[in-house]
Amino acid sequence: MYKNVHVNSEESFDLIISPNQDFKILQLTDLHLGFGPLSKNSDRQVLQAIDVLIHKASPDLIVLTGDNIYPFLPKSGTLNNMKQMKKLMHFLDGYKIPYTVVFGNHDLEVGSKGSREDLAKLLKTGTYSIFTEGKNDIYGIGNFIINLRNTNKELVSSLVMLDSNMYGKGWFFSGFDCIHKDQIDWCMAALDTLKKEKEDLKALAFFHMPLLEYKIAYEKMKLGDKSIVYNFGSIAETNDYFGISKNHCDLFERAVNSGVIKGMFCGHDHLNTISMTYKDIMLVYGMSLDFLAYKGIKKCYTQRGGTVITISPTGEFEVAPLPLGTVVSNFVRGINNGFKS
Ligand SMILES: [Fe+2]
Ligand SMILES: [Fe+2]
Repeated sequence: MYKNVHVNSEESFDLIISPNQDFKILQLTDLHLGFGPLSKNSDRQVLQAIDVLIHKASPDLIVLTGDNIYPFLPKSGTLNNMKQMKKLMHFLDGYKIPYTVVFGNHDLEVGSKGSREDLAKLLKTGTYSIFTEGKNDIYGIGNFIINLRNTNKELVSSLVMLDSNMYGKGWFFSGFDCIHKDQIDWCMAALDTLKKEKEDLKALAFFHMPLLEYKIAYEKMKLGDKSIVYNFGSIAETNDYFGISKNHCDLFERAVNSGVIKGMFCGHDHLNTISMTYKDIMLVYGMSLDFLAYKGIKKCYTQRGGTVITISPTGEFEVAPLPLGTVVSNFVRGINNGFKS
């Protein structure tokens, strides 16, 4: 565990930050690192890309939003997700920058060596990792909050990590699971308490799979609803695909009602990089780093990169895509010229 983080409880940390400097977060997503005999080339490309992005961004914290590793035999040639996670942690520890993680739906596959509980235990052992299983009486593993506090102990911002889980009871064929009600109850109650400390708290939530509201906002925007603000990026999955759950999840609605969460960051759909602001919440698809999982992904490049979140000493935040190359696509299908940011 990163030694400069204060462990408050099983579900929250304090990270002390400079009182008069911006705090920079680099979101990386869908690394799909295989560390197996079949993925050597793509792994090298992912690690090189991470290296470039870390040097470009010089972040104070790295947030990985799931599908960090890929214990999928046909693609990586290994089921050993423990070894994969160890290698990833060893690589990240080398940068001496704290990092934190949420799980995606591919960090564990059928037959892989470690369970999500095993991976969670491992994640707590990284020299620079910030991770905890979270409360054991709520759904998912890795639901926790990192409070950014300045040296006067004043709350600047709160980063909420939420496990968006994997699949329903029928595994892959049952479709994607979602963030469950008890997770949302926990999250909203914790944020209500923090809001008493900082009335204008602008919390940011990180999870792997997008919420239904990403799709709703996008479709409304395309229909000309001017209340949705286009920020940057595009939807490039085939047929405007959003990998959302069919289950009901009211995280967005409750976030709107409480007004504390002002930014949401996900991954999962590797070709979607859009950011829109809907009902005063910035919805962001992180730029992704997959070189392995999607067929033909090596040839695609406008989705590849990271996302930089800059938090000011007063807790205001700005978000910008950090492409690996030079291009950020603003092409939105059905609209001739895309949108201007
Ligand atoms: Fe993925
Ligand atoms: Fe995923």
